Amino acid sequence: MARIVTLHSCRGGTGKSSTAANMALLLAAEGRRVALVDADIRSPAVETMFGSPGGRDGCSLADYLVGRCEIEDAVRPLASGGLFIVPARTGMTAINEISANGYDVGLLNEGFGRLIAALDLDVLLLDTHTGINTETVMAVAGADALVIVTRADRLDLAGAAESVALADRFGCVRRAVVVNMVPDAAPRSDLVLRAETAYGTPVTAVLPYVPEMAELAGEQIFVSAHPGHSLVAGYQKINSAVL
Ligand SMILES: Nc1ncnc2c1ncn2[C@@H]1O[C@H](COP(=O)(O)OP(=O)(O)O)[C@@H](O)[C@H]1O
Ligand SMILES: [Mg+2]
Repeated sequence: MARIVTLHSCRGGTGKSSTAANMALLLAAEGRRVALVDADIRSPAVETMFGSPGGRDGCSLADYLVGRCEIEDAVRPLASGGLFIVPARTGMTAINEISANGYDVGLLNEGFGRLIAALDLDVLLLDTHTGINTETVMAVAGADALVIVTRADRLDLAGAAESVALADRFGCVRRAVVVNMVPDAAPRSDLVLRAETAYGTPVTAVLPYVPEMAELAGEQIFVSAHPGHSLVAGYQKINSAVL
């Protein structure tokens, strides 16, 4: 049965999109059928990260939400096979319409269900916008597992209670707390303890701050450029925890 995995964080820039992209590539490399949906229509990332292989009339999740296309039209199959991406939006038209008129929120989970069936998916990964907004709440509501990406920073950890409340509200019991961008010099056990106290759950993975990722400047997804790096083992650990 397909599993829906949602990535969430209360603050921006914690590494949700990067983590989702790397998780997706690793799962597809294991032979699973995976779709990565960019549910962050405010600040999309997924299509840029994967390049733009082109889709039917440039359709996106936002176009589907405003009734301009079917969700299946927004799917971009990647050449590697078994991996599909759904971009959040192309251009401003659909998001302007959403800002002005809103949309039927039920379409989100209906669309996710249709993707699972149409693409015969094993895993549907949902990348979300930071904090609490309609798409994020619906993505958490529909999730079988939640990956919460945080830095061990007081500002990030201050939002932990909101993430926990969101997960609790929708009965999302399978959770992975990921502490990302941990500097080499940081005392690891202190950071883990702080995160575990804030989230009330064991930390699944501690991911280092990796200068090689900054050096890539977004030109490639990390696992493709550095398949043997220890960070990749961290992403694998997250996949194992949520599947
Ligand atoms: N472990 C890491 N080490 C170094 N840079 C990272 C790491 N994880 C993510 N980044 C970088 O941090 C920035 C923000 O990541 P992103 O995935 O876009 O965050 P979010 O989706 O949560 O806003 C990106 O430039 C990304 O390459
Ligand atoms: Mg993002």
